[in-house]
Amino acid sequence: MKYPNIKVPPPGPIAKEILKRDEEVISQSFTRYYPLVVKSGKGSIVEDVDGNQYIDFNSGILCSNVGHSHPYVIERIKKQIEKFLNYSLTDFYFENAVTLAEELCKITPGSFKKRVYFGNSGTEAIEAAIKMARWHTRKPYFIAFINSFHGRTIGALSLTASKPVQRKYFSPLMPNVVHVPFSYCYRCAFKQQYPECNLWCVDYIKEYVLEKYVPPEEVAAIVFEPIQGEGGYIFPPDDYFIKLKKLADEYDILLIDDEIQAGMGRTGKWFAIEHYNISPDIICIAKSLASGLPLGATVAEESIMDWEVGSHATTFGGNPVSCEAALATISVVKNENLLERATKLGRNVLKRLKEMEEKYELIGDVRGKGLMIGVEIVVDKKTKKPGRKEVKEIMMRCFKQGLAIISCGISTFRIAPPLNIEEEYLEIGLNIFEDVIKEYENELKIKNKIT
Ligand SMILES: Cc1ncc(COP(=O)(O)O)c(C=O)c1O
Repeated sequence: MKYPNIKVPPPGPIAKEILKRDEEVISQSFTRYYPLVVKSGKGSIVEDVDGNQYIDFNSGILCSNVGHSHPYVIERIKKQIEKFLNYSLTDFYFENAVTLAEELCKITPGSFKKRVYFGNSGTEAIEAAIKMARWHTRKPYFIAFINSFHGRTIGALSLTASKPVQRKYFSPLMPNVVHVPFSYCYRCAFKQQYPECNLWCVDYIKEYVLEKYVPPEEVAAIVFEPIQGEGGYIFPPDDYFIKLKKLADEYDILLIDDEIQAGMGRTGKWFAIEHYNISPDIICIAKSLASGLPLGATVAEESIMDWEVGSHATTFGGNPVSCEAALATISVVKNENLLERATKLGRNVLKRLKEMEEKYELIGDVRGKGLMIGVEIVVDKKTKKPGRKEVKEIMMRCFKQGLAIISCGISTFRIAPPLNIEEEYLEIGLNIFEDVIKEYENELKIKNKIT
């Protein structure tokens, strides 16, 4: 079978029916990218309800690093379902949650003794980190970054600063959160150049936040995504986090690392922060952890997770079905050598995309680690004006041709296929992406919309 396989122009008739019903009863707060109505998924291929098959460059929004419905993950889920579905970890005990916690303590960075808190989602992993940091330090303030996305419950939303619509009319949010610019070198908030800047964005936190108005002894933690995801696939320079950690250590501030999107092997390491050679105090994990089943984990140094009995819990957190899926997912990453594979495939994809950056006016910047790669679309390479409309048009054309790919930030594509995607499909997907950009760019040139 050759993929992709588009039988009816999407959305087809069955999809259209479902979209109509969705519009009637489903919350319309969701940010749907295009009308893909999924019927099934296998590996790196998703099929819609009209029988169209797409190559998935989204990994089910980063929830399927080992591919959709991996047979080993499914087998272990089925076995667990036969036994029991839940008997809340809040109030009782079961073994696979303990085994998973042991595994997570091993694969997360930091050679110190750790503990794990289980919730159901990314935002809950962040909520737990916020509460844990406050409980441990008894300090009220957090420093977070512009362009960050940490979730949508009120605590996590207070840290999130990616798009105004995510916060509009939801204030008052959690107080005592201060946002500072991230190290986004392609669009430096301070209009500086790396490395000549000497990472001024870190010094700024010291000189303009901690020395001007936020008492450092009242700051519980700095919360960051090692690679910003939803905010635009933004990769700080290699020495950024070493400098940030030095600052945090100077003032006895904890580091909370949100690995919800970048973790679980996505960048060729278990966790993206490993590229930057520091060990954070608290790590938040979700998305691909349980291959699509709801599970969030907050892993912390034992001395930090010192909250008392009854201080935090949730009924479904760490349910045994999700834990089994997570254990199976970790085994697949190990057994299929997916860290090495992500590194190898990522290198090739990055090379090809960099060549495209040279060729096409619409591509302003290409950046990545492993199979987490951003392609920023601009309408003018010199002014770097974001291609807001253009990114949507390219995304839609790719979808119609059988490539499921989505954007982030203002105008950046995320290239994030399953880590075990077949090389052939990866190449076909990239061919579609390139052909669409080439054709669209020619159309825009004819209309004098770009030079
Ligand atoms: C980096 C990051 N943190 C937190 C979240 C929130 O996770 P969830 O949607 O599971 O609440 C996301 C979701 O996209 C994310 O990418």
